[in-house]
Amino acid sequence: MCGIIGCVNDEAVAPILLRGLKRVEYRGYDSAGVATVSESVIRVTKAAGRIDDIERKYGLSTLTGTTGIAHTRWATHGGVTDRNAHPHTSCRERVAIVHNGIIENYLELKKQLRAKGHIFKSETDSEVIAHLIEAEYHQVKDPVKATILAAKKLKGQYAFAALFQDAPELITGARKDAPLLIGVGDTKNFIASDVLAFIEYTDRTIFLDNQEVVKVTNRSVEIFDMNGRSVKRKPTQVAWELADLSKMDYAHYTLKEIHEQPKTVVSAMMQNEEKLAEFVEKIRGARSVFVTAAGTSYHAGLLLKYRLERDAAIRCEVTLAGEFREHSEFVDGGSVVIALSQSGETADLLEAIREAKKKGAKVLSLVNAAGSTLARESDLTLLLNCGPEVGVAATKSFTAQVVVANLIVDNLVGSRNGRGEEVARMVEEALSSEPTVKEIARMYRERSDFYFIGRGYHYPMALEGALKMKELSYIHAEGMAASELKHGTLALIEDGTPVVVINPRGETHADTLSNAEELKARGARVIGISDEPSEVYTHFIKIPRAKESLTPVLEAIPLQLMAYWTAVEKRNDPDYPRNLAKSVTVK
Ligand code: AGP
Repeated sequence: MCGIIGCVNDEAVAPILLRGLKRVEYRGYDSAGVATVSESVIRVTKAAGRIDDIERKYGLSTLTGTTGIAHTRWATHGGVTDRNAHPHTSCRERVAIVHNGIIENYLELKKQLRAKGHIFKSETDSEVIAHLIEAEYHQVKDPVKATILAAKKLKGQYAFAALFQDAPELITGARKDAPLLIGVGDTKNFIASDVLAFIEYTDRTIFLDNQEVVKVTNRSVEIFDMNGRSVKRKPTQVAWELADLSKMDYAHYTLKEIHEQPKTVVSAMMQNEEKLAEFVEKIRGARSVFVTAAGTSYHAGLLLKYRLERDAAIRCEVTLAGEFREHSEFVDGGSVVIALSQSGETADLLEAIREAKKKGAKVLSLVNAAGSTLARESDLTLLLNCGPEVGVAATKSFTAQVVVANLIVDNLVGSRNGRGEEVARMVEEALSSEPTVKEIARMYRERSDFYFIGRGYHYPMALEGALKMKELSYIHAEGMAASELKHGTLALIEDGTPVVVINPRGETHADTLSNAEELKARGARVIGISDEPSEVYTHFIKIPRAKESLTPVLEAIPLQLMAYWTAVEKRNDPDYPRNLAKSVTVK
């Protein structure tokens, strides 16, 4: 999704904005731009393409001025073109804006503004914000008032920052249902959609609440509600280590984050005892339990369901976040809704929990981003503690979700939590499969289809393996319950088709092995992930023997590595897969 950064500095601001753009590249984008204001002139440099290429061609960092805004665009309305890139300016270049979100009533606003003589330069919804602010500013001559009046006319989701030609000492911003944070420095202040945009300058962060407006100078931050009343809010400290922002000696963030997992599963297990106990009590006391999430987090949610039902005898319904509203008939004041998320900004998920709260349910969340909207709107949150996950593919955040889910169920049933060091050792051992996985990636990189199968507790892992493969390698992949093969998909298996069979020893092992035989008999190349070899496997990827609740953590490692190395074999950029964003902040 789009990345926003604005800064009011006491010296040249463009280089800081460029570094900020690089920090939010991981969110996924297709164009970028910078606007600064100096000597009462707003200067804009923007284009479609990668930030480094735009900098090389147009010199983003050479723009003069100590106040500026910048943007990475993930196209929602309007093609990927230079004109549709942000920042957008108003007719007379008196206002420039950058925006993340979707303005649902932009066509109506555009029509009204055109009728007043405004001329639009792009196909985007966002551009209306610049014209609206300029029109209001022309009347009220006050940047904050103009920003409030303009924001009140917007329907949909927005987080925007605005620059004023005749007020070079300030930036205004406003948000509704999309994140907007303030970075509080000593001689500079920031507005951004992501803490990573400014964390190397300051970890003091103010999280704007919904429908708040902010005015930032290099020495002050003022927050207002939509009636223009001042709101007092102290900065909080964001504890993410700066070190997590570098790739260290890895080629990509994704590979670094896969290899961080022996460490991050341990940090995920270090939960505040009281909070964990409160979390567990809320589940125990609920009349009904629901789980909701999207993508990889949804797969972790399926695993949580299995454990709640099989080990704690607590019935649990899991729903995709985007489907929650249509399937929430039975959510009520006696319900607990558990939301899982890495970013805490997934639009579908935020809509789901708001629906749940409207029905009186308690919302509990497992989330990585401490200051995220989900964390702030939940009744209780357990943090994943795995540090910023920069690669678009969820890797360490997934295994963190699984171990935290295990902690919750272990505490519900009073069983001893596994020792972190033991889990770390087993994850380290699972990572030792990398050379085998790398060779498999090389052998099958040209295939057009991959299949992943598993039973019971390993079925969600088949879904997860397929998702990883799709999003990183761009090869079509299907994850399914092994039991479903004979109900249709077996027709697609032909000589050479790669099928990953997730099959550690346990109650589903024998049946899944039979499925592997059926696949082999039809020419499939069976890639077995297990703690036990079998001659039916064309390739065998060994993972350590572990208690069933830990097996998804161990199975995830080769699945992540397989997707990563296949992407590398295909010369894809694993950190920024095409069309995807790290945080899906639009529905
Ligand atoms: C998973 O690798 C993808 N990046 C994507 O499916 C992701 O899991 C999904 O968008 C949910 O994101 P969240 O965990 O931040 O809510």
